[in-house]
Amino acid sequence: MTSSIPGFFQGTEMPSATWWEALWPDPAGVLSATGFKPGMNAVDLCCGDGWFTLPMTRLASHVTAIDIDAEQLDFARRRLAETGVAGCDFVAGDAYALAELVSRPSDFIFMANAFHGVPDRPRLTRAVAAVLVAAGRFVIVNWHQKPRETTKVLGEPRGPRTELRLSPEQTIADAEAGGLRLTALVDVPPYHYGAVFAKAGQ
Ligand SMILES: C[S@@+](CC[C@H](N)C(=O)[O-])C[C@H]1O[C@@H](n2cnc3c(N)ncnc32)[C@H](O)[C@@H]1O
Repeated sequence: MTSSIPGFFQGTEMPSATWWEALWPDPAGVLSATGFKPGMNAVDLCCGDGWFTLPMTRLASHVTAIDIDAEQLDFARRRLAETGVAGCDFVAGDAYALAELVSRPSDFIFMANAFHGVPDRPRLTRAVAAVLVAAGRFVIVNWHQKPRETTKVLGEPRGPRTELRLSPEQTIADAEAGGLRLTALVDVPPYHYGAVFAKAGQ
């Protein structure tokens, strides 16, 4: 499946909630393991239907949830409204234009399951660095570079095509080319890793 939205990152279509929620039973735990802390000003970049946005907004000072697909943003908006969680702005736009989409500097920018599809990853990283506070963190959660047929959820191979998947080393090299430096690399079982970056020199 490929989206027809101009600028859409390849291989980043939002999966069905059935297997997504089985794969990610503890989104709050993933946020915590990658350095998210209560009270932060945060961005959920390429937020999809808001599976991570909800636990983030529960604890954050403020969240900006960004996605290029307005329909996904509507799902996310509804998810938070149904649970009575407030404090999130939903903004439709292209991740490259991040500086135009956020209204305040960010402590924590979280990008799950999308970096692998970005055509110019150093450019995206520079856009992120421009809106991070000095001590801010950029977190990339990616599928491990395993063959797709081995990453099964609910009995079926899942996730982006094998050739789109990035090793931690490739992800780190691209983010460092965009001006950030790695501060932590964490395993996010069963099939992901989380790479945490800070501004170079911080
Ligand atoms: C695989 S989904 C992951 C959603 C969410 N991060 C999660 O892990 O649950 C990737 C999302 O990236 C969005 N996306 C794709 N290209 C984008 C772009 N250029 N700018 C912003 N969002 C984009 C898609 O619409 C989709 O909702």
